[in-house]
Amino acid sequence: NAVATAPSSWSTGTQSDRRSKIGIVGAGAVGSSLAYFCQIRGIAREIAIYDVAGDKVRAEAADLSHGAMFSPSTVVTGSDDVSILNGSDIVVITAGAKQKPGQPRLELAGANVDILRALTPKLLEAAPDAIYVLVTNPCDVLTSVFRELSGLPKERVMSSGTVLDTSRLRLRLAEEAGVSPTSVHAMIVGEHGDTEFPLWSIANIGTVPLVDWRGENGELAFPQEVREKIADEVMHAAYSVIAGKGATNYAIGMAGGSICQAILADHHAVMPVSTILDDYQGISGVALSVPSVVGRAGVLQQLPVPMSDGEIQQLKNSAEALKSSLNSLGF
Ligand code: 2OP
Repeated sequence: NAVATAPSSWSTGTQSDRRSKIGIVGAGAVGSSLAYFCQIRGIAREIAIYDVAGDKVRAEAADLSHGAMFSPSTVVTGSDDVSILNGSDIVVITAGAKQKPGQPRLELAGANVDILRALTPKLLEAAPDAIYVLVTNPCDVLTSVFRELSGLPKERVMSSGTVLDTSRLRLRLAEEAGVSPTSVHAMIVGEHGDTEFPLWSIANIGTVPLVDWRGENGELAFPQEVREKIADEVMHAAYSVIAGKGATNYAIGMAGGSICQAILADHHAVMPVSTILDDYQGISGVALSVPSVVGRAGVLQQLPVPMSDGEIQQLKNSAEALKSSLNSLGF
């Protein structure tokens, strides 16, 4: 009951590994947007989407497939049979309950852990060698839970973490500084949620330390009050989008797709994905985002970047919030 299209002969090619397969769990707005990004970027040879809603997943896969003439050749399939994910190089998990307006991500933990518990054995059977990327919220909590349920090596289990929040931060800083977001080097780390924070002490624009950047009027552009306002806007960004349209999907689809690209193309890209920490700034046994090197084997390294005392404390606060959520779930 899978829907597939033959590969088209008008591929535009890509730098990614074109023999590879990305499996996506969940054909909702996030899973579909992620599939769309991977398709138009030509990130994988095959994209397979699994969802319990058979008609919906087949329709999403068919709709994406119908763009064959306009995108690099990618086979897109969809099914309510989990074996559609067989042999995936990456499995991205997007299925689960989503936030209601104003609801913190951590409140989704109970419902989404139950979904993950039911899914895990089936996923491991279909894709035992895959790198797993958790996008469903609370993504840090689910990364810790999935690592424990699956028994997979920690470098093969990561979540999108604060990759999206980092894009939101770079956008705001770029707008203020009048430069491209790609020239802003700054990161949100910690929980993908209410305790996340920017690593201001090592942020820069081009090669200029962010705190020294001056606007056209010659004044410092990012004094503490401006930094705090921007950090607060970034933390609340998802709440604003959810209030307006009920969910976020495009940017998280791009963030998740970019992680898939970094993995399959073995980019060794530095991204704030979330993986279990092992004595990182004294934190162990919980997944949260820190600057990490991402490549074909998953998370290759968690970078020991310099942090101020305040930032170390904020990272510990994130770890505490996540540990207490995990404890309340029995993990
Ligand atoms: C986001 O940050 C809701 O976690 C989702 O867009």
